[in-house]
Amino acid sequence: MGIDGIRPFLLFVLLLLLRACFSINADDTLSKGQPLSAITKDIISSKNGTFELGFFEAGTTSKFYLGISFKLLMRPRIVWVANRENHLSNPSTSRLEFSEDGNLVLLEASSKKPIWSTSLQNLPSNSTEAALLDDGNFVLRDRSDPSTLFWESFDHPTDTWLPGGKLGIDKVGKVPKQLISWKNSEDPSPGLFSLSLRMEPNGSPVYILEWNRSQVYWSTGVWNGNNFASIPEMRRNYIYNYSFYSNENETYLTYSLYNASFISIFLLSYTGQVKQQAWRHDPSDSSGFSWYLFWVQPKSLSEVYAFCGPFGIYQVNANTSCDCPKGFEPFSDNQIRLEDWSGGCLRRQPLQCENRNAKNDWFQKIPNITLPINWKAYSAMSARRSYTHNSNGCLIWEGALLNMQRPWDGGKVGQDIYLRLSADERQISTKGTKWKVWVIVAVLVAATGLILCLYVCFSIKRKLKHKGQTAASSNDLMLFDVSTEIHAIGDGTNSQDNDKKRGKKDVELPLFSYGSVLAATDSFSTANKLGEGGFGPVYKGKLLKGQEIAVKRLSRRSGQGLEEFRNETTLIAKLQHRNLVKLLGCCIEGDEKILIYEYMPNKSLDFYLFDPAKKKMLDWGTRIHIIEGIAQGLLYLHQYSRLRIIHRDMKPSNILLDSEMNPKISDFGMARIVGDNAIQANTNRIVGTFGYMSPEYAMEGLYSIKSDVFSFGVLLLEIVSGKKNTGFYNHGSLNLLRYAWELWRDDQSLELMDSTMGYPTSTSTLVRYINIGLLCVQENPADRPSMLDVVSMISNEHVPLLTPKQPAFTAGRNPTINLAENCSINTVTFSAMEAR
Ligand SMILES: *[C@@H]1O[C@H](CO)[C@@H](O)[C@H](O)[C@H]1NC(C)=O
Ligand SMILES: *[C@@H]1O[C@H](CO)[C@@H](O)[C@H](O)[C@H]1NC(C)=O
Ligand SMILES: *[C@@H]1O[C@H](CO)[C@@H](O)[C@H](O)[C@H]1NC(C)=O
Ligand SMILES: *[C@@H]1O[C@H](CO)[C@@H](O)[C@H](O)[C@H]1NC(C)=O
Ligand SMILES: *[C@@H]1O[C@H](CO)[C@@H](O)[C@H](O)[C@H]1NC(C)=O
Ligand SMILES: *[C@@H]1O[C@H](CO)[C@@H](O)[C@H](O)[C@H]1NC(C)=O
Ligand SMILES: *[C@@H]1O[C@H](CO)[C@@H](O)[C@H](O)[C@H]1NC(C)=O
Ligand SMILES: *[C@@H]1O[C@H](CO)[C@@H](O)[C@H](O)[C@H]1NC(C)=O
Repeated sequence: MGIDGIRPFLLFVLLLLLRACFSINADDTLSKGQPLSAITKDIISSKNGTFELGFFEAGTTSKFYLGISFKLLMRPRIVWVANRENHLSNPSTSRLEFSEDGNLVLLEASSKKPIWSTSLQNLPSNSTEAALLDDGNFVLRDRSDPSTLFWESFDHPTDTWLPGGKLGIDKVGKVPKQLISWKNSEDPSPGLFSLSLRMEPNGSPVYILEWNRSQVYWSTGVWNGNNFASIPEMRRNYIYNYSFYSNENETYLTYSLYNASFISIFLLSYTGQVKQQAWRHDPSDSSGFSWYLFWVQPKSLSEVYAFCGPFGIYQVNANTSCDCPKGFEPFSDNQIRLEDWSGGCLRRQPLQCENRNAKNDWFQKIPNITLPINWKAYSAMSARRSYTHNSNGCLIWEGALLNMQRPWDGGKVGQDIYLRLSADERQISTKGTKWKVWVIVAVLVAATGLILCLYVCFSIKRKLKHKGQTAASSNDLMLFDVSTEIHAIGDGTNSQDNDKKRGKKDVELPLFSYGSVLAATDSFSTANKLGEGGFGPVYKGKLLKGQEIAVKRLSRRSGQGLEEFRNETTLIAKLQHRNLVKLLGCCIEGDEKILIYEYMPNKSLDFYLFDPAKKKMLDWGTRIHIIEGIAQGLLYLHQYSRLRIIHRDMKPSNILLDSEMNPKISDFGMARIVGDNAIQANTNRIVGTFGYMSPEYAMEGLYSIKSDVFSFGVLLLEIVSGKKNTGFYNHGSLNLLRYAWELWRDDQSLELMDSTMGYPTSTSTLVRYINIGLLCVQENPADRPSMLDVVSMISNEHVPLLTPKQPAFTAGRNPTINLAENCSINTVTFSAMEAR
């Protein structure tokens, strides 16, 4: 025992020593005679230590791989895998070394052929070496001339596209440089999803997402010289510099980061979605950092081809993304944990159709789902496996069903489908029902009696206890009277007065029953859907008195507890101002969390501002009025003493308009209502909106009231110009902010004004507004005015204006600014990306 105990320790020390020696010799390069061995956990580290090449185990599967990892504060991330098709099973005999002919080979004693190799011909066999470069590229090169690269890992990406990497095709070797997803979160072997370049017949390039290299389910649209048709936001933004190259040897897309210290990757996730993620400051994480999602396509897993596999049913906003129909079970036990539903669901009992003597199969009704995509239309009812029928006839499926979806919000109308099941399955569900029914009836009768008794006792007790006091029970939304509620609370023009009033008689936020919310919204019918916000869909509801309300149904995955949710909504409801949308009440029942707002008949600002025809309805007077209103609302949020709210997602679609075109800010306080952590934990929620996010928030996750001031500045310039910051292609300028600044600098500000509108009576006011807008979008948060300053500049023509500094829209500028909180703010370029 004693010796056994000592031995591992010695071995450990020995390993440490070996490793120390090894690292001294070969920090970023590997040359002949110096194999990289798995048992001693050898690694190669890039010069500045950002990337490491070494062996790793996939989960706890005893499958080993050679890969490159991004070293991030205890959370290394695998960005490249050499042998994803053939795993290593015995690390003690595995090593990476040079073969006689100068190629890199990955060997395992038990196998005769190399597990993986660079397989090149005509290499100068004695003078090759391998190196891991600072950008994460692992290269095979000539020792005497390091600039000659024979092979590079960037030409063979796995699921991750690093800055500097290429995505496209090599016309000479005909090798696609494509991303292929991992099988699941733990298995790097090639999954079913791929992102690759396809040349259209007319020669224009398109990137497509495919399932099993055969079914296209998303595409970027064609390249128009600047950007891809379906991704206008990729063109010129302040973070990523994309370039597309095509010559006789290769065609590819590459990108770089304007600021090399910003960490961002692009990957094809095992869920079949392409994601752009950034490693950002995150105070809620123990390490102080976490991955933020910047952009994702397709937005919903329901759009990923066969995400739930054969017979799997996709369910929105439930605990698990997929489910199996009755009579079916998940293909493997792990698929829920690994989120890998490629196996789908299997019949618990095999069909008997081929067996003549057997009992007949039957069809089980699966109610209320969206139909699978792979149907065949038949006129006759010769159903073999699965069918549905409606007035249009009968649809039949043979083989597996794909992309079924269970509606949860009435967004898509469900239909019934009939699935063929084994006769045994029917027996299971009906066997012995007779005696079971009796038992159930008996139990029910007993239970009902007991419950009734308890209820009576309890109500009596409660009545005694809470005499005179109203309990927080739920109300009927249908009977609610919006107008009396609003008047009772006051019109909010003077917040201090209102505070005092409320202090005496604290307004309790009404709690409504789920049933009454269903009644008001017609069971969340599609016809009543107003839109889809970042936190869930919004519906129009109608009360008995004919008044209208807006109902926001929050996504169920938000992780906040009921108590906190209730507290936060009550706090938010106390914010009352004429330029804020009023929160009238909420509904919490089971998994459902619903917010009830006043209804705004004139939709949102973006509905008018960016529509060539409708923008004419916003004359200059209205626009000025809207800008003033937004400024007032934001000032109130920022200055309100008891509860300072940073909005974090100010954009035109969050500015609603009432019947008199008064602007009202919506979605404020959502970070509090939903719970800050939930926003970050939900990887499918994009934090903020690109075109409106201040650089320090977008790149470092630092937000303050000055981030809202930045977004306000963008909004102001958009309202004046009638142009979208993200879709701005004019005059060769990068974006609206740069264009505005250049015009201002050249004393041409009037050029910015919406040309469809004709000149306003007072041009000086608009020039003044543009100046204020430019002050708000300055790069350094400390230079931006507060909303109090903004409001005084807007409302008083005599307040002198400062000269704005150039907004951050070009790369390579480098003053480092220190905030009071001692956070360095980075200083790169400008806004043009929007993730919607
Ligand atoms: C490589 O080096 C070995 C010994 O150093 C030598 O025997 C061999 O001839 C060399 N091969 C070539 C192609 O230069
Ligand atoms: C993918 O396609 C191949 C043929 O191209 C086929 O053999 C295989 O079964 C398909 N995989 C799945 C999961 O359908
Ligand atoms: C963007 O990338 C291209 C090609 O890599 C490069 O030539 C250009 O200088 C980059 N632009 C900036 C502003 O860094
Ligand atoms: C294409 O490849 C050939 C052969 O390697 C090379 O001579 C030529 O310069 C390449 N063309 C370009 C544009 O890189
Ligand atoms: C290492 O180099 C890469 C690429 O030049 C750069 O992105 C990264 O910030 C550097 N890391 C450190 C720690 O200097
Ligand atoms: C959903 O997940 C929560 C926590 O993980 C669990 O308590 C709850 O029972 C689950 N609900 C369902 C329907 O699986
Ligand atoms: C289908 O399901 C949705 C959501 O659960 C529900 O609102 C609707 O009433 C159902 N329709 C039918 C016909 O059962
Ligand atoms: C890049 O960002 C870092 C902070 O993330 C900042 O300190 C640095 O100044 C920036 N570099 C440039 C060139 O803007």
